[in-house]
Amino acid sequence: MEQQKRYGHFDDQHREYVITDPQTPWPWINYLGNEDFFSLISNTAGGYSFYKDAKFRRITRYRYNNVPMDNGGRYFYIKDGDTVWNPGWKPCKTPLDFYECRHGMSYTRITGRKNGVEASVLFFVPLKKWCEVQKLTLTNHSSDTKQLKLFSFEEWCLWNAATDMENFQRNFSTGEVEIETTAPAGSPAGATIYHKTEYRERRNHYAFYHVNTEIQGFDTDRETFVGLYNEFANPDAVMEGKPRNSHAHGWSPIASHYIEVTLKPGESKDFTFLLGYIENEQDKKFSAPQVINKDKAHALIAELDTTAKVDKAFAELCEYWDALLNIYKVRTGNDKLDRMVNIWNQYQCMVTFNFSRSASFFESGVGRGMGFRDSNQDLVGFVHQIPPRARQRIIDIASTQFPDGGCYHQYQPLTKRGNNDIGGGFNDDPCWLIFGTVAYIKETGDFSILDEMVPFDNQPGSEVTLFEHLKVSMDHVIKNLGPHMLPLIGRADWNDCLNLNCFSWDPNESFQTTENVSEGTKAESLMIAGLFVVTGKDYVALCKKIGKNEEAARMQQAVDAMIDAVKKHGWDGEWYLRAYDFYGNKIGSNECDEAKIFIESQGWCTMAEIGAEDGMVAKSLDSCKKYLECEHGMVLNNPAFTKYIYEYGEISSYPEGYKENAGIFCHNNPWVIIGECIAGRGNDAWSHYAKILPSYVEEKYQTLHKVEPYVNCQMVAGKDAFKPGEGKNSWLTGTAAWMWYTVSEFILGIKPDYDGIRIDPCLPETATDYTVQRKFRDAEYEISIHPNGQQKGVKQIVLDGSPVEGTVIPYSAGKHTVEVTM
Ligand code: BGC
Ligand code: NOJ
Repeated sequence: MEQQKRYGHFDDQHREYVITDPQTPWPWINYLGNEDFFSLISNTAGGYSFYKDAKFRRITRYRYNNVPMDNGGRYFYIKDGDTVWNPGWKPCKTPLDFYECRHGMSYTRITGRKNGVEASVLFFVPLKKWCEVQKLTLTNHSSDTKQLKLFSFEEWCLWNAATDMENFQRNFSTGEVEIETTAPAGSPAGATIYHKTEYRERRNHYAFYHVNTEIQGFDTDRETFVGLYNEFANPDAVMEGKPRNSHAHGWSPIASHYIEVTLKPGESKDFTFLLGYIENEQDKKFSAPQVINKDKAHALIAELDTTAKVDKAFAELCEYWDALLNIYKVRTGNDKLDRMVNIWNQYQCMVTFNFSRSASFFESGVGRGMGFRDSNQDLVGFVHQIPPRARQRIIDIASTQFPDGGCYHQYQPLTKRGNNDIGGGFNDDPCWLIFGTVAYIKETGDFSILDEMVPFDNQPGSEVTLFEHLKVSMDHVIKNLGPHMLPLIGRADWNDCLNLNCFSWDPNESFQTTENVSEGTKAESLMIAGLFVVTGKDYVALCKKIGKNEEAARMQQAVDAMIDAVKKHGWDGEWYLRAYDFYGNKIGSNECDEAKIFIESQGWCTMAEIGAEDGMVAKSLDSCKKYLECEHGMVLNNPAFTKYIYEYGEISSYPEGYKENAGIFCHNNPWVIIGECIAGRGNDAWSHYAKILPSYVEEKYQTLHKVEPYVNCQMVAGKDAFKPGEGKNSWLTGTAAWMWYTVSEFILGIKPDYDGIRIDPCLPETATDYTVQRKFRDAEYEISIHPNGQQKGVKQIVLDGSPVEGTVIPYSAGKHTVEVTM
């Protein structure tokens, strides 16, 4: 094996990933902010900020896919004599004497040292505040007095991130700023640059960049600061050590403070920079004609104008994460497992819950809002952390459903309205609402959510109960069955790229939105069939739980019918078929030339245990090992498509081994792993799981994997790819929630249920004793599990000293200890 260079390591005690070389194989990023105000930050301080919606409220500008790749961010330039450097190495790339980036839970600390000066910047978004704090500490470790020239830098985005990068005929004339070089009487010390483009008309929001000290100059016009023929690496003003005090009118507004700093040997100084966002009431927009009312900005600044206040806000953020990560804690003695379960997997779940698939270094933030299916899955990974937020999310998602149970595929977080550009017609979408809602109720015991009145398509007057939404969701599947009584696929199912009704020869069309041929289609999905059986069983159990027995019986029949249909028409002999195409031909069959087997239907039909009694489940799982598994995980289909197939759509548009065409789509590996767990095959479950567990990959493949080693990525190049094992599309992927659901509930076996916690681990034979601390509603359980070399099967549970019948420990408030023997 090629020797892999290492760029960093885990620091579990601080819950950080420590990057020690700025030249990572790809920008390794982190997310700041937990609600409302968010930032993306790379290991060299690149990235951008926005309020709620990465498309409509972009605060700072970012240029994607740039040269160099990660260009633009919040930069501090330090001019020490003739040397100009940045704590995060970029953009000047002056070689540093020391560099370190610590990505932690919603914060990042970047430290650089050059010629005896250390600059350490702590970046975070305080809880409930609409700003990014940048606390810069400068320390003189040398024996000489240092006269430093410090320049800050942010570039404003003109709010709408899409038009910002295309409508220059307008944009170059609209930019406006205001500058407070000294604080006005009565407000905290320091200097503030305000960005107010379009504030004169319909916008009632502005942004600001503040520093809590006196400044000796500033700049707000990009070209004046940088120089038209320069780059971020050598801005004129910085190189000359002279700010221009420029005032932007149109063109590209920026914000840069200039501060002269004297540091005696051993001396250290703190500076707090704040990037903030403010909304004013319509009638309080201005304090004088065209002058923004800055009261709220001053008030926000006052909350964070001293180091003590900033440190307190940071401590609160750390306590918040302590509390979140105290809800589920495992101790297995395997650091690689523990750190993913206790720290990074849960952290990634929060991020995917917040962002869906909108803003990452692979998602531009302008294309996609919140996905219907994505968000439902994300909340399953997040619901134990902050249940009320999951509750609100369920209501928001359900509000974008149509009366017939179909749904908008995506919605915009700012408006919460369904996105017309993409529309609906993805026939798996409705089932996910059941998946999300059931997880919420099992975690919280809050059945009242089912009685919430929720509109269709956000139309006032259309409200019905959430339960009714679940019902129309189920009905949507059974009212859209094809000739084999299997679910019609619509535009696509979970696999956005299996476009069986699309028939596109026009490269200018998007596979996702192009007009579908719906008349006469026979395109059916086995993935939806399995999903329907799994969520249908959940729905039936829920109905029984709330006394809707007739409805339970009605849906049980539909589930049974679906199981029959799969057994009759969905089995290929060694595995489940994937689909039938428009004409009724098999997809994912041994009879096909390519893509004889697909992972999605193996995952869902094994989770649904369809035909387990006839050996179908075991055969399907064996086939996954035989045909799909490789060194880096299981590929989506095998063999890969080698040519474009008009009848199949986007899936066959990808080169072999990438994305939906035989990539290791990490998202659906857990489906098979859960199938393995349900079947009791703990050794296989574990070996599949460890292959895509970031901490295992981190140890072996930092260079090859390329993307962040502390989180899962959407796709790892599969065995047919040019570079198997190379990761792409990190961070925003349903993989996070599915990895969490898999390990927490199916491998470690701690499964929230309506009346308590079900304990049903599925482990490799090598597993040793472990404990899980689980907060659950108003209870706290300390659960010790003794596997005794067993893969599955709980023999005895002792709760607070008394044996329990069955595998569910009944919920009761308070502290409990549980001993589990397998
Ligand atoms: C990608 C899918 C993605 C879809 C979203 C496709 O190009 O391959 O993974 O879900 O776009 O629209
Ligand atoms: C990514 C999308 O966000 C998700 O909704 C979809 O299921 C997968 N790609 C597979 O196509």
